[in-house]
Amino acid sequence: MGSWPDDVGIIAIELTIPSLYVDQEELEKYDGVSSGKYTVGLGQKAMGICTDREDINSLCLTVVHNLLEKNHIDYSEIGRLEVGTETIIDKSKSVKSVLMQLFEPHGVTDIEGIDTTNACFGGTAALFNAISWVESSAWNGKYALVVAADIAVYAKGAARPTGGAGAVAMLIGPNAPLVFDRGLRAVHMRHVYDFYKPDLSSEYPAVDSKLSIQCYLSALDKCYQSYCEKASKVFGQKIDLSFFDAILFHTPYCKLVQKSLARLHLNDFYLATPEHKVKKYAELKNLENIVLEETYFDKEVEKAALNSSTELFSTKTSPSLLVASQVGNMYTSSLYGGLVSLLISKKPSELAGNRVGLFSYGSGLASSFYSLKISEDANKFSALHKLISGLNSVSTSLSHRRKIEPEVFEKFMDIRQKSNHSAPYEPIGSIESFFPGTYYLTNIDEKYRRFYDRVSNAMNGHAH
Ligand code: ACO
Repeated sequence: MGSWPDDVGIIAIELTIPSLYVDQEELEKYDGVSSGKYTVGLGQKAMGICTDREDINSLCLTVVHNLLEKNHIDYSEIGRLEVGTETIIDKSKSVKSVLMQLFEPHGVTDIEGIDTTNACFGGTAALFNAISWVESSAWNGKYALVVAADIAVYAKGAARPTGGAGAVAMLIGPNAPLVFDRGLRAVHMRHVYDFYKPDLSSEYPAVDSKLSIQCYLSALDKCYQSYCEKASKVFGQKIDLSFFDAILFHTPYCKLVQKSLARLHLNDFYLATPEHKVKKYAELKNLENIVLEETYFDKEVEKAALNSSTELFSTKTSPSLLVASQVGNMYTSSLYGGLVSLLISKKPSELAGNRVGLFSYGSGLASSFYSLKISEDANKFSALHKLISGLNSVSTSLSHRRKIEPEVFEKFMDIRQKSNHSAPYEPIGSIESFFPGTYYLTNIDEKYRRFYDRVSNAMNGHAH
């Protein structure tokens, strides 16, 4: 290929959420916990639910088909397809290979890329792979397509209300309206057993709750400090939160994200010069002598940081929490659901020129802080407009979901649990509430082979 492509980034983005949800206030009552525990304590409003009709393949088929259809992208225009997921239903056959059934009827099989797994980080790893491909000698001039998707379900107990499900697909290529900052990424990886899925017969993870929060916050500190150091060299200026118009986080539950933004504010204070500490962060002056690593669960430090970052949170992070508060943890797609939420929260003219910081975390652990810029180039304004208007259906989908009672949610969870890895299997969940264009599982045969169908996409006037 010729020259290195410019402005590699996101050209189109698509979100798929379940059509069913359970209300968190109703779940509090049903679970017999104190009122406000899930809604205020965790900051969650609702949780997306998949019955036995949906699995990781169906979610990914839906999001890919919808993205290509909506944006009038021909299957032959895709040269790489990457899937990031931790929802494993086959130890050998990738979700990517299942998605090839969309491409094969169009005679398209020359597509690189495969699945990537590490808890909630797989989607980001898939995205990084796609960017690298577009910037490499292997690039054939086509688009890369990145899919991040998961069904997050927990065993009965404290973690169950932090479930959710969703899928995000992103079309990656040069001259994009959302441009990744090149040569600027902070990464932090370690070996920890904070959240993992050692029982291959179960959908549920083993979670060390407190450790998972500590690992998330410590990875955030490490990544942010490393990013600030690297970015200060790239941009020749001191980097702190004022550098970003928006900061997005992997969102296990919204309260953790509010605490995370407060944590970055605390980092800014910690890294500030003595003069700035007094001038800019007067309200944190009592925390002058803290050791960051000792404060993950220090309520006084947390309260001071939260109180002094309320406005930062409402301007830079709160707009990105719409999908997370309504759908819950979507694991690999959670951070990108945050990007979708941000993009639909403002007019394109208000977003143009914004710099967005993104923190991706996957237990085990793998994490990264990186950034992108929403183009302010007048020539790209129509591309930005198109990208954002492609997300018009998100608010409609959220408001057209069907609420189910907590009892019914429990029943669905029991069915998922009992039918997990059964073959042959005929799903019993209804397809009535599915959004147009949704793929669903029709059956699993005696050889564990899965078959799917698609709800007619009235929007585009045809089925399958
Ligand atoms: N009103 C308001 N707040 C309340 C109420 C109430 N009635 N009752 C409790 N709370 C608050 C608590 O004070 C607590 O607040 P804090 O976190 O600020 O201290 C919060 O609600 C949670 O309550 P806890 O009793 O501390 O925690 P719980 O046992 O319910 O577990 C947890 C919460 C740890 C998040 C659990 O749901 C979990 O394990 N989730 C999965 C793991 C996870 O998401 N980890 C994050 C990173 S890893 C990943 O992404 C999977």
